[in-house]
Amino acid sequence: MHEQTVREEYEQLKREIHFHNYRYNVLDSPVISDAEFDRLMARLREIEKQHPEWITPDSPSRRTGGGVLEKFSKVQHPRPVLSLASGFNVGDVKAWFERVCRLDRRVEQTDFVLEPKIDGLTVVLHYHNGLFVQGATRGDGEIGEDITPNLRTIRWIPLHVPVDPQGPNPPEKLVVRGEAFISISDFEALNKRLEEAGERTYLNPRNTAAGSLRQLDTAITASRPIMLLTYNILAAEGGSIPDTQWETLNYLRALGFPVSEFNQYCKDFSAVLEVLDEWIARRDTFPYEADGVVIKINDLRLAEELGFVGKDPRGALALKFPAREVTTVLRDIVVNVGRTGVLTPNALLDPVEIGGVVVRQATLHNFEYIAEKDIRIGDRVLVKRAGDVIPYVIGPVVEARAGGETPYSPPQVCPACGQAVEHFEGEVAWYCVNAACPAQLVRNLEHFVSRPAMDIAGLGIKIVEQLVEAKLVNDAADLYTLRREDLLKLEGFAEKKAENLLQAIENSKKRPLARLINALGIRGVGEVTAADLAKAFGNLDALCQADIDVLQQIEGIGPNIAQGIVDWFSQPGNRRLLEKLRAAGVWPTFDHGAGTAEAGILSGLTFVVTGTLPTYGREEVKTLIQSHGGKVVDSVSKNTRYLVLGENPGSKLEKARQLGVNVIDETGLLELIQGRRSARS
Ligand code: IVH
Repeated sequence: MHEQTVREEYEQLKREIHFHNYRYNVLDSPVISDAEFDRLMARLREIEKQHPEWITPDSPSRRTGGGVLEKFSKVQHPRPVLSLASGFNVGDVKAWFERVCRLDRRVEQTDFVLEPKIDGLTVVLHYHNGLFVQGATRGDGEIGEDITPNLRTIRWIPLHVPVDPQGPNPPEKLVVRGEAFISISDFEALNKRLEEAGERTYLNPRNTAAGSLRQLDTAITASRPIMLLTYNILAAEGGSIPDTQWETLNYLRALGFPVSEFNQYCKDFSAVLEVLDEWIARRDTFPYEADGVVIKINDLRLAEELGFVGKDPRGALALKFPAREVTTVLRDIVVNVGRTGVLTPNALLDPVEIGGVVVRQATLHNFEYIAEKDIRIGDRVLVKRAGDVIPYVIGPVVEARAGGETPYSPPQVCPACGQAVEHFEGEVAWYCVNAACPAQLVRNLEHFVSRPAMDIAGLGIKIVEQLVEAKLVNDAADLYTLRREDLLKLEGFAEKKAENLLQAIENSKKRPLARLINALGIRGVGEVTAADLAKAFGNLDALCQADIDVLQQIEGIGPNIAQGIVDWFSQPGNRRLLEKLRAAGVWPTFDHGAGTAEAGILSGLTFVVTGTLPTYGREEVKTLIQSHGGKVVDSVSKNTRYLVLGENPGSKLEKARQLGVNVIDETGLLELIQGRRSARS
């Protein structure tokens, strides 16, 4: 293809991808499928590979981050980034209105705009000829920090405006102000993920957003669910901009900037007063933390002419929602064991009302937090409940100490099962690693019986819960001693169902060693590592005795996983589990014989599967490959031997092509397995 044509295609692709990103991320209404989107991205990357010199910072491929910055440089804002005066009740709002009316009679007749006051972090975004060229924090209002590379990773920030080619043309220079934040549900999901990984959780969405933007590794920013809403044009040159706030919001939206859907136009001040109570009542329904409602005079020129008091423009007021921080007494600290074995401390409080809700418990995050803040039992503590986020203890009111408060030390044993707790280097969490710990039993059993583990057909979560509740099963080994008459006592069990289940359990005894190792649920040991361990040690007796050094000789096993394995086998509860499994006849050994599962025709070969296959499901094809000795991994690398391609593949296909990985379809895979095609070609 002629280079000029490719260049045009590239420019066109960038625009299209930006447009579809906006449809997907901002409007939540995509007009193409994910697969089509992936194809556009793949083509873009292909062109960029051939022409790295064409890549500009506004390419959608630059959203992924990955660079590490040395430090932030300073940015002078084109105009002061002002803040807002606050009011705390409707009376304050009326007083503000009267004050500004006295200064300028025109205010009596003017209209207003109401906007949620988002509790996030101000960002200042610079565009030259529609291109996003720089982004900064607010700093002291005059000078901020340049966080451009981090901001580029946020999908809500248009890298190029107008995003829709039909949109208006922006002025040559345009500086937009907005608020970066994390939604409440994303925040909770992120914290849950961090907690399960034993990592430090965040205190609140605001700190998380600020922390993610003001750090130097752009890949971290890219991995955080940061959103943006814009509400102000700070400066413009070489083009005209609207002269009312309401039109500004519409104009920003037309350019492709995200703008809050809750913004409201009020034709006069009495219309503002009419809806204020509704705004206050609506507080908890925002998907993000909002700490107030901003009331803005719509006529921007009039607002500007009113001037400032310090850094607060007179033309706007923030009506703050009532604070949701109160103090109360910390009576005790209780420790919960999560489904993954993570121990989390919770505060038991003297009941206290915060924003209409009586709070009796609040999270203390982790043991380090308690120590850092020096939170003691008996302390008066400051507690915050914001939005629907779980209440948390901010810290002690040190001045209120009377002397009888007692420092807290974390438990040495799991409060649910009494076994010693473990701590892994580099993590903040403490764990209970006892597979039979009742707090984790249901989850461990669920994993034990799952497809990639012991694959016990018909044993779903419901039945697992029934078995645990009826105390028929206290650990995974108990499954193998279940009797017909036990099952028949359970609700929903008749002869046939009981028999089928017992048969499925019996069949699972024949699963290969790798499956059993995976089923044990050792931290850090998934299917792939389990298969490596099975091969290296051959049986559980040998694995049981392996020390850290020996384990680390296996590729892919580092000190943390090795330590996790040793710890697991040293737990008395886990030892008992193993003995029970052995007694029940669940004691497979690695089979070195040719043609068997563990040294199958695919052994030594790594596969990646992408798209939908005609007959096999995701798990099925994985099991099929593994049962013939192959390894299945998630992402394509140079070690991948085959990409198994189905319909609607994702970006993996492109990666495979780039790396020259063999691409086969389901039939090709079956031919390999049946030996009708050479696997090693
Ligand atoms: S207007 C002259 N509108 O609240 C413009 N601020 O001190 C002054 N904020 O940190 C700001 N949502 O970042 C405005 N809809 C909104 C806002 C908003 C959040 C933040 C702003 C600043 C603080 C005001």
